[in-house]
Amino acid sequence: KAGRIAVVGSNMVDLITYIDRMPEPGETLEAPSFESGCGGKGANQAVAAAKLGSAVSMITKVGDDLFGDNTIRNFSDHGIDTRHVAKVAGKSSGVAPIFVEESGENSILIVKGANANLLPADVDAAEDTLREADLILMQLEIPLETIYHTVRRAAEWGVPTILNPAPATKELSVADLKSLGFLVPNESELSLLSGMPTGTEDEILAAARSLIEKGIGTIIVTLGARGARLVTADRFASIEPVRVTPVDTTGAGDAFIGSFAHFLAATGDTESALNRAARYAAYSVGRRGTQKSYASADEFEKFSKETVG
Ligand code: RIB
Ligand code: NA
Repeated sequence: KAGRIAVVGSNMVDLITYIDRMPEPGETLEAPSFESGCGGKGANQAVAAAKLGSAVSMITKVGDDLFGDNTIRNFSDHGIDTRHVAKVAGKSSGVAPIFVEESGENSILIVKGANANLLPADVDAAEDTLREADLILMQLEIPLETIYHTVRRAAEWGVPTILNPAPATKELSVADLKSLGFLVPNESELSLLSGMPTGTEDEILAAARSLIEKGIGTIIVTLGARGARLVTADRFASIEPVRVTPVDTTGAGDAFIGSFAHFLAATGDTESALNRAARYAAYSVGRRGTQKSYASADEFEKFSKETVG
């Protein structure tokens, strides 16, 4: 059974340069190769869920440029509902110059462009779509007031919410996330939001529980190659990583969250959804690019058989 997922989030064009090392200030270096593709945390998560078969709607804003048209076409190509994708006159699309080292590790610069214009009024304008969703998914590449507003409205409508608090910002106010269903931070985002250390398993648990005390339902802490942790008021579970040789980790976190949303909406089982999401993210880490490296439902099924055990 496929669920309905609405993403209130960003879109970017990823400009990925594969490098041997970063240039020093003032230095010019030649890099081996380059790839561009659709990215942005909101769009990435939407595409992951759509590729797996969810019915996905995107609430976002693109720029008044060729990138904007390309992004809308990309959503449609993935069967994503674009009725709430608007163009902002006179603004550029969001872009992300990205540098990927040989280890697969990346450094990212983002320019929000039109994403900065996604406002609470746009959420209200998409109310019909959002109310019908099984899950609403958000990240932090849009204005924070839009996040707070969506969390509040979703609670009124009784629609569960997931927030990925990335990229990290200390401006995010936990008090404004009271009725949030799921928060999915990595360990540094968790530390920033809780104001607590997250260096050990005990510290991660304590930091996550402190946010649950402030009203957030479930915390899922992503730990990269160490897997993830599921924390609720009375549970603490480890999600084991799926090991692959990293080629390009860009967008792996989004693959994890978008696929988690898909599996959760489809089955209602958080822990099994997380285990499958870890496998889905691993597939993407073994391949170049952002959305380009995400598996379709068929590719994922094949990969799951190959990596079982
Ligand atoms: O999470 C990865 C994404 O972050 C990239 O696609 C880039 O666009 C930035 O938004
Ligand atoms: Na990848």
